[in-house]
Amino acid sequence: MQAPTHSEPSHGHLTAPSPWVERFASLAPAGGAALDLACGAGRHVRYVRARGHPATAVDRDGAALAALTNDPGVEIVHTDLEDGGPWPLGQRRFALVLVTNYLWRPLLPAIVGAVAPGGALIYETFARGNEKHGKPSNPDFLLRPGELLDAVAGRLRVVAYEDLYVERPKPAMVQRIAAVNASEP
Ligand SMILES: C[S@@+](CC[C@H](N)C(=O)[O-])C[C@H]1O[C@@H](n2cnc3c(N)ncnc32)[C@H](O)[C@@H]1O
Repeated sequence: MQAPTHSEPSHGHLTAPSPWVERFASLAPAGGAALDLACGAGRHVRYVRARGHPATAVDRDGAALAALTNDPGVEIVHTDLEDGGPWPLGQRRFALVLVTNYLWRPLLPAIVGAVAPGGALIYETFARGNEKHGKPSNPDFLLRPGELLDAVAGRLRVVAYEDLYVERPKPAMVQRIAAVNASEP
């Protein structure tokens, strides 16, 4: 595995929520706690707050997180997810776990494990083949075919999955999944 670095720009600074997130956000139980991992400037934190979820916003970029501090319904976790330290959320479980445009493979089991019984995972990021269209092009940051399906196998029930080329917000190869924890709450 190559050295962890996210120096490659991807979508730049997006403000609108992902249509995939909008489409499947209703899988999460109303009012349940949401986790946005590597949230950046918080486009999805704002989106889930508007839907009535308390939110936990995790990122290493303190300047990006600063824009979220005026909302008491947002818990800020300013941390480096790739420094080899413990998973920063401990045993906590969330009604909605969101990850968009971020991949650090060693975290996949913890991400899936953070979905509470009855809760949902919505994950969307770049996939193999994206190197033809721009960045990220480092294979460490590109999902392998079926990788999100493999990550949830035996743990979550898949509601929707895609691995395809998209034109917007820029030409890219993306893989995305929406899945629920069907065990009893
Ligand atoms: C392309 S942005 C995506 C932001 C947001 N999820 C979205 O879709 O708008 C990637 C985010 O991952 C964060 N990130 C990258 N490496 C990280 C690390 N090691 N620990 C925590 N966050 C990290 C960056 O700070 C950045 O905010």
